[in-house]
Amino acid sequence: MPTLLRLDSSADLRSSTSRTLTGVFAETWQARGPGHPVVERDLHRSPLPHLPDAALHYAPRLRAEGENPVADAERVQEELLAELSAVDAVVIGAPMYNWSLPSTLKAWLDYVHVLGTSVPFDTDDQPFAGLPVVVVASRGQAYSEATENAGDDNAVPPLVRVLATSMGMAVTVVTAELTLAERIPAMAPLAGKARASLDAATERVRELAATLGGS
Ligand SMILES: Cc1cc2nc3c(=O)[nH]c(=O)nc-3n(C[C@H](O)[C@H](O)[C@H](O)COP(=O)(O)O)c2cc1C
Repeated sequence: MPTLLRLDSSADLRSSTSRTLTGVFAETWQARGPGHPVVERDLHRSPLPHLPDAALHYAPRLRAEGENPVADAERVQEELLAELSAVDAVVIGAPMYNWSLPSTLKAWLDYVHVLGTSVPFDTDDQPFAGLPVVVVASRGQAYSEATENAGDDNAVPPLVRVLATSMGMAVTVVTAELTLAERIPAMAPLAGKARASLDAATERVRELAATLGGS
Protein backbone atom coordinates (compact mmCIF):
# COMPACT_ATOMS: atom_id res chain seq x y z
CA MET A 1 0.00 0.00 0.00
CA PRO A 2 1.88 3.09 -1.17
CA THR A 3 1.31 5.66 1.54
CA LEU A 4 1.80 9.42 1.21
CA LEU A 5 2.67 11.81 4.02
CA ARG A 6 1.23 15.28 3.37
CA LEU A 7 2.79 18.08 5.42
CA ASP A 8 1.30 21.58 5.36
CA SER A 9 2.67 24.65 7.08
CA SER A 10 0.89 27.66 5.58
CA ALA A 11 -0.80 29.93 8.13
CA ASP A 12 -3.32 30.84 5.43
CA LEU A 13 -6.39 28.65 5.87
CA ARG A 14 -8.41 30.60 3.29
CA SER A 15 -6.49 30.81 0.03
CA SER A 16 -3.10 29.15 0.48
CA THR A 17 -1.34 28.23 -2.74
CA SER A 18 0.84 25.56 -1.13
CA ARG A 19 -2.18 23.95 0.56
CA THR A 20 -4.04 23.91 -2.76
CA LEU A 21 -1.08 22.22 -4.46
CA THR A 22 -0.41 19.66 -1.72
CA GLY A 23 -4.17 18.99 -1.88
CA VAL A 24 -3.98 18.34 -5.63
CA PHE A 25 -1.04 16.04 -5.00
CA ALA A 26 -2.93 14.11 -2.30
CA GLU A 27 -6.11 13.81 -4.39
CA THR A 28 -4.14 12.55 -7.38
CA TRP A 29 -2.36 10.06 -5.12
CA GLN A 30 -5.63 8.77 -3.65
CA ALA A 31 -7.19 8.55 -7.10
CA ARG A 32 -4.62 5.87 -7.99
CA GLY A 33 -6.85 3.46 -6.07
CA PRO A 34 -8.13 2.42 -2.66
CA GLY A 35 -4.72 1.18 -1.56
CA HIS A 36 -3.21 4.69 -1.66
CA PRO A 37 -3.70 6.19 1.78
CA VAL A 38 -2.64 9.70 2.74
CA VAL A 39 -1.41 10.59 6.22
CA GLU A 40 -1.86 14.29 6.95
CA ARG A 41 0.15 16.41 9.36
CA ASP A 42 -0.78 20.05 9.56
CA LEU A 43 2.14 21.83 11.18
CA HIS A 44 0.20 25.08 11.42
CA ARG A 45 -3.05 23.79 12.90
CA SER A 46 -1.17 21.41 15.22
CA PRO A 47 2.25 23.00 15.68
CA LEU A 48 5.11 21.05 17.18
CA PRO A 49 6.87 22.58 20.16
CA HIS A 50 10.14 24.20 19.13
CA LEU A 51 13.03 21.80 19.66
CA PRO A 52 13.33 22.04 23.46
CA ASP A 53 16.75 20.47 23.90
CA ALA A 54 19.86 20.54 21.68
CA ALA A 55 20.61 16.94 22.66
CA LEU A 56 17.77 15.86 20.34
CA HIS A 57 19.99 16.77 17.39
CA TYR A 58 22.24 13.80 18.25
CA ALA A 59 21.61 10.06 18.42
CA PRO A 60 21.50 8.92 22.06
CA ARG A 61 24.96 7.35 21.76
CA LEU A 62 26.41 10.73 20.71
CA ARG A 63 25.00 12.66 23.66
CA ALA A 64 27.29 13.96 26.36
CA GLU A 65 26.84 12.90 29.94
CA GLY A 66 23.96 14.75 31.51
CA GLU A 67 22.26 15.47 28.17
CA ASN A 68 18.88 13.94 28.88
CA PRO A 69 16.03 15.43 26.89
CA VAL A 70 12.64 15.22 28.57
CA ALA A 71 10.72 12.08 27.70
CA ASP A 72 7.86 14.00 26.01
CA ALA A 73 10.29 15.57 23.53
CA GLU A 74 11.92 12.22 22.80
CA ARG A 75 8.46 10.80 22.13
CA VAL A 76 7.65 13.59 19.67
CA GLN A 77 10.91 12.96 17.82
CA GLU A 78 10.34 9.19 17.74
CA GLU A 79 6.80 9.71 16.47
CA LEU A 80 7.97 11.99 13.63
CA LEU A 81 10.75 9.63 12.58
CA ALA A 82 8.40 6.62 12.74
CA GLU A 83 5.87 8.53 10.63
CA LEU A 84 8.52 9.17 7.97
CA SER A 85 9.68 5.55 8.08
CA ALA A 86 6.18 4.30 7.42
CA VAL A 87 5.49 6.17 4.16
CA ASP A 88 6.49 5.79 0.54
CA ALA A 89 6.52 9.46 -0.43
CA VAL A 90 6.17 12.89 1.17
CA VAL A 91 4.72 16.15 -0.12
CA ILE A 92 5.64 19.29 1.82
CA GLY A 93 3.93 22.65 1.52
CA ALA A 94 6.67 25.24 2.00
CA PRO A 95 5.52 28.87 1.82
CA MET A 96 8.17 31.57 1.95
CA TYR A 97 7.96 33.61 5.14
CA ASN A 98 10.46 36.45 5.47
CA TRP A 99 12.72 34.85 2.86
CA SER A 100 12.77 31.70 4.95
CA LEU A 101 10.59 28.80 6.13
CA PRO A 102 7.56 29.08 8.42
CA SER A 103 8.84 28.34 11.92
CA THR A 104 6.36 25.45 12.11
CA LEU A 105 8.08 23.66 9.23
CA LYS A 106 11.53 24.53 10.56
CA ALA A 107 10.56 22.90 13.87
CA TRP A 108 9.69 19.67 12.03
CA LEU A 109 13.02 19.79 10.21
CA ASP A 110 14.86 20.29 13.51
CA TYR A 111 13.24 17.14 14.95
CA VAL A 112 13.91 14.81 12.02
CA HIS A 113 17.50 15.86 11.25
CA VAL A 114 19.35 13.78 13.82
CA LEU A 115 23.08 13.13 13.54
CA GLY A 116 23.76 9.42 13.84
CA THR A 117 20.07 8.49 13.52
CA SER A 118 18.61 9.97 10.34
CA VAL A 119 21.89 11.21 8.81
CA PRO A 120 25.23 9.45 8.67
CA PHE A 121 27.74 10.60 11.24
CA ASP A 122 29.94 7.97 12.84
CA THR A 123 28.26 5.25 10.73
CA ASP A 124 26.90 5.09 7.18
CA ASP A 125 23.27 4.95 8.31
CA GLN A 126 20.93 6.86 6.05
CA PRO A 127 17.55 5.24 6.69
CA PHE A 128 15.61 7.66 4.50
CA ALA A 129 17.87 7.43 1.46
CA GLY A 130 15.85 7.44 -1.73
CA LEU A 131 12.52 8.41 -0.12
CA PRO A 132 10.75 10.58 -2.71
CA VAL A 133 9.91 14.05 -1.40
CA VAL A 134 8.12 16.78 -3.31
CA VAL A 135 8.62 20.27 -1.88
CA VAL A 136 5.88 22.65 -2.98
CA ALA A 137 7.37 26.12 -2.63
CA SER A 138 4.99 29.11 -2.75
CA ARG A 139 6.17 32.68 -2.64
CA GLY A 140 4.84 36.16 -3.17
CA GLN A 141 7.66 37.37 -5.39
CA ALA A 142 9.93 35.64 -7.95
CA TYR A 143 13.42 34.42 -7.09
CA SER A 144 14.88 32.93 -10.26
CA GLU A 145 18.42 33.84 -11.38
CA ALA A 146 17.02 36.40 -13.79
CA THR A 147 15.33 38.45 -11.04
CA GLU A 148 16.61 41.08 -8.64
CA ASN A 149 15.67 38.70 -5.79
CA ALA A 150 18.07 35.98 -6.95
CA GLY A 151 19.97 34.66 -3.95
CA ASP A 152 17.32 35.74 -1.42
CA ASP A 153 15.52 32.39 -1.26
CA ASN A 154 16.35 30.95 2.15
CA ALA A 155 13.30 28.69 2.19
CA VAL A 156 14.06 25.95 -0.33
CA PRO A 157 17.85 25.65 0.17
CA PRO A 158 17.71 24.46 3.82
CA LEU A 159 15.03 21.90 2.94
CA VAL A 160 17.12 20.56 0.07
CA ARG A 161 20.31 20.65 2.16
CA VAL A 162 18.78 18.65 5.00
CA LEU A 163 16.42 16.30 3.19
CA ALA A 164 18.43 15.60 0.03
CA THR A 165 22.10 16.21 0.80
CA SER A 166 22.12 15.05 4.42
CA MET A 167 19.29 12.54 4.59
CA GLY A 168 19.62 11.26 1.03
CA MET A 169 15.99 11.68 0.05
CA ALA A 170 15.02 12.11 -3.60
CA VAL A 171 13.79 15.70 -3.48
CA THR A 172 11.90 17.46 -6.28
CA VAL A 173 10.98 21.11 -5.91
CA VAL A 174 7.86 22.56 -7.53
CA THR A 175 7.49 26.34 -7.30
CA ALA A 176 4.48 28.65 -7.57
CA GLU A 177 5.64 32.26 -7.54
CA LEU A 178 4.30 35.80 -7.69
CA THR A 179 1.30 34.82 -5.55
CA LEU A 180 1.13 38.39 -4.18
CA ALA A 181 0.05 39.65 -7.61
CA GLU A 182 -3.55 39.15 -6.50
CA ARG A 183 -3.14 41.08 -3.25
CA ILE A 184 -0.70 43.92 -3.96
CA PRO A 185 -2.08 46.46 -6.45
CA ALA A 186 1.40 47.39 -7.70
CA MET A 187 1.94 43.75 -8.70
CA ALA A 188 -1.33 43.45 -10.64
CA PRO A 189 0.48 43.56 -14.03
CA LEU A 190 2.18 40.30 -13.00
CA ALA A 191 -1.14 38.44 -12.58
CA GLY A 192 -0.74 36.63 -15.90
CA LYS A 193 2.70 35.35 -14.96
CA ALA A 194 1.40 34.31 -11.54
CA ARG A 195 -1.43 32.34 -13.13
CA ALA A 196 0.99 30.66 -15.55
CA SER A 197 3.26 29.73 -12.64
CA LEU A 198 0.35 28.23 -10.70
CA ASP A 199 -0.94 26.34 -13.74
CA ALA A 200 2.52 24.86 -14.40
CA ALA A 201 2.93 23.91 -10.73
CA THR A 202 -0.51 22.28 -10.67
CA GLU A 203 0.29 20.19 -13.73
CA ARG A 204 3.67 19.22 -12.30
CA VAL A 205 2.30 18.06 -8.92
CA ARG A 206 -0.36 16.00 -10.73
CA GLU A 207 2.33 14.35 -12.86
CA LEU A 208 4.58 13.68 -9.87
CA ALA A 209 1.76 12.25 -7.75
CA ALA A 210 0.67 9.98 -10.58
CA THR A 211 4.22 8.77 -11.20
CA LEU A 212 5.21 8.33 -7.56
CA GLY A 213 1.86 6.79 -6.65
CA GLY A 214 2.42 4.03 -9.18
CA SER A 215 -0.47 1.76 -10.13
C1 LIG B 1 4.55 36.08 7.40
C2 LIG B 1 4.72 36.21 5.91
C3 LIG B 1 5.95 36.53 5.39
C4 LIG B 1 6.13 36.58 4.01
N1 LIG B 1 7.37 36.85 3.52
C5 LIG B 1 7.58 36.80 2.18
C6 LIG B 1 8.89 36.98 1.65
O1 LIG B 1 9.87 37.16 2.35
N2 LIG B 1 9.05 36.90 0.31
C7 LIG B 1 8.00 36.66 -0.54
O2 LIG B 1 8.22 36.57 -1.75
N3 LIG B 1 6.74 36.50 -0.07
C8 LIG B 1 6.52 36.55 1.28
N4 LIG B 1 5.26 36.35 1.78
C9 LIG B 1 4.18 36.02 0.85
C10 LIG B 1 3.98 34.51 0.79
O3 LIG B 1 5.20 33.84 0.46
C11 LIG B 1 2.92 34.15 -0.22
O4 LIG B 1 1.71 34.71 0.20
C12 LIG B 1 2.79 32.66 -0.44
O5 LIG B 1 1.75 32.44 -1.37
C13 LIG B 1 2.51 31.95 0.87
O6 LIG B 1 2.20 30.59 0.65
P1 LIG B 1 0.69 30.10 0.83
O7 LIG B 1 -0.12 30.76 -0.26
O8 LIG B 1 0.75 28.63 0.70
O9 LIG B 1 0.21 30.53 2.19
C14 LIG B 1 5.04 36.32 3.14
C15 LIG B 1 3.78 36.03 3.69
C16 LIG B 1 3.62 35.96 5.06
C17 LIG B 1 2.26 35.62 5.60
